[in-house]
Amino acid sequence: MRDYFNELTKQLTHLGRRHDLSRIFNDLLTIGVCSFHKTNIQSRLKEKDESNEQLYLQTIKPYEKHEIEELGKALGTIQLNILDNPYSDVLGEFFMQHISKGQNGQYFTPEPICDFMAKINLEGLKGEGNRVYDPACGSGRMLLSAAKINHRNFFYGVDSAHSCAQMTALNFFFNGLKCEVAWMNSLSNEWFGGWNINMDGLGIQPIQKDQSQIWREVPKAKTAEFETRSNSTPSNPSHQLTLF
Ligand SMILES: C[S@@+](CC[C@H](N)C(=O)[O-])C[C@H]1O[C@@H](n2cnc3c(N)ncnc32)[C@H](O)[C@@H]1O
Repeated sequence: MRDYFNELTKQLTHLGRRHDLSRIFNDLLTIGVCSFHKTNIQSRLKEKDESNEQLYLQTIKPYEKHEIEELGKALGTIQLNILDNPYSDVLGEFFMQHISKGQNGQYFTPEPICDFMAKINLEGLKGEGNRVYDPACGSGRMLLSAAKINHRNFFYGVDSAHSCAQMTALNFFFNGLKCEVAWMNSLSNEWFGGWNINMDGLGIQPIQKDQSQIWREVPKAKTAEFETRSNSTPSNPSHQLTLF
């Protein structure tokens, strides 16, 4: 069986001789999110989103041509891993072992425990299109376990760490699941960014906070703005389950 984790480790640590490994990992995530932008995928690169293009070009700037090719191969390794092992989380494993090393509470839940928690929460839930939410999603692995039970639900992941939000976006994109990922603080509702994943055809679509179901529907202190919004009908009135 192919060892994708080791392949990814070799590819990225090799690049790490000239650049900082955690910078490379963050850049890899940004390059992935930009490359799989919905416009790039759906127009087969004939159309471009200008701000996405700028972010991509700015991210690859410090790298030489052969290094950009290596980063492309690393993204390929992640994609091949998911084709062979759907719903697995090679990004989260790499992040824990080589980047966070447990700092800032950045240890993710082991996969068998995610599977168990998803099972006890979702068992018996009927139908499709239910909403499953993790307000501190890390690399999104608890939501991936929920997807093993029913991949036709809608998944919502929030994390205040940019790298975690981007890992979740890529994990969901590569698995072809429908998801909204918000890079925001779940406690203060401070919004930094977000993406719709595979929502309207395949691809990653950056969104603003007023396009985010997560941000719109979280309980907020009562303000005039919230009063108006809370009177509108939720766009998806089905069950909502919180995993974390
Ligand atoms: C222990 S990890 C758990 C991740 C995932 N739910 C799992 O079980 O593998 C906790 C995550 O919560 C995130 N986090 C901490 N405080 C947060 C906040 N106020 N809003 C959103 N995310 C937060 C951290 O960045 C980290 O990724």
